[in-house]
Amino acid sequence: MILQSTPAGHPPDPAAAETLVLGLETSCDETAAAVVARDAAGRGRILSNVVLSQIEAHAAFGGVVPEVAARAHVEAIDGVVRAALAEAGVGLAAMDAVAATAGPGLIGGVLVGLTTAKALAFASGKPLIAVNHLEGHALTARLTDGAAFPYLLLLVSGGHTQIVRVDGVGRYRRIGTTIDDALGEAFDKTAKLLGLGYPGGPAVERAAAAGDPARFALPRPMFGRKEPDFSFSGLKTAVRLEAQAAAPLGPTDVADLCAAFQAAVADVVADRVGRALAAFWADTAGETAGPTGPLLVVAGGVAANRAIAARLRTLVAAAGARLIVPPPVLCTDNGAMIAWAGAERLALGLVDGLDAPARARWPLDGDTAPVVGHGRLGAKV
Ligand code: KG4
Ligand code: ZN
Repeated sequence: MILQSTPAGHPPDPAAAETLVLGLETSCDETAAAVVARDAAGRGRILSNVVLSQIEAHAAFGGVVPEVAARAHVEAIDGVVRAALAEAGVGLAAMDAVAATAGPGLIGGVLVGLTTAKALAFASGKPLIAVNHLEGHALTARLTDGAAFPYLLLLVSGGHTQIVRVDGVGRYRRIGTTIDDALGEAFDKTAKLLGLGYPGGPAVERAAAAGDPARFALPRPMFGRKEPDFSFSGLKTAVRLEAQAAAPLGPTDVADLCAAFQAAVADVVADRVGRALAAFWADTAGETAGPTGPLLVVAGGVAANRAIAARLRTLVAAAGARLIVPPPVLCTDNGAMIAWAGAERLALGLVDGLDAPARARWPLDGDTAPVVGHGRLGAKV
């Protein structure tokens, strides 16, 4: 278990009236709570950001076990909320609202955080804000870097792989998604197959550093297609077949397979995002024209992968675009992103009743048709 905390943001401005929001995140395997401030100019400041990871509780199972996660959230949430308030140096009475992830995610965990937030809101007489977890990821770059709308979001985590056009708070258009596995899931499955443990992304990246990406020829699924969608299950199968053919695997084989997998993934991500960025730029040139170019924001645990990040940097440089990758602790699941989404919603008067439902599935863009094959209930996000 790791308790991390990351106060950050612009320095407090005594003259600016700030709203304070407490945010709770429990949709997967992190129990998290944070306090953020938002001033009238829309600038954010993190007063506390406490994240309690359950990785050790799930490592023995090679992945997140929903029942284990829900129980761990119940045990931890009170202490994590208390720690977030204590570190921020403010009491519940000073909050302007209480926000919590209301979905999508593992429903047992979502219920723990949302119900706790409802109790805190009711007891303190503060408004409740039921936040879509994906909106938390989508708006983080506004907290860290003051990103202005519109921008393109690449969300790559254990449960989601999406390219989303972000036009405003509550205004999202998904323009690309995976038709099967999420990218983080593909890293995790590849790691498991090669005996590298959980979570797999960092282990694959470490092993790949010593590998030869050219020894195994792996496919680049969806490469060159017009629509910026993704597919990773065929790539994972190709790794399995190569691994079986090369068995028994020594450390060099594992390193070469990881390097080939990572190279294939980086090629695919650069191609898909490149297409999306070009379309976005063509669409919005009128709105964002100027010296700065279109803005790409990356979020989710896979954003920590240096090979992928390097390819994205090259891509945006060639396209005359800008790139924001929030620090890793704000790219992975955390309470600050939920508190911040709550603060952005509160500023627009968007609050929820105490009957707000917990939702296992909750697409960011309700108008987008579900993609056939993408049906992971209670997926890790
Ligand atoms: O956003 P996140 O912390 O949690 C959720 O999925 O909600 O993302 C975790 C995912 C895992 O699949 C993990 O293997 C992947 O992000 N990941 C990475 C790296 N670090 C974490 N994948 C590739 N390279 C990394 N360095
Ligand atoms: Zn997430």
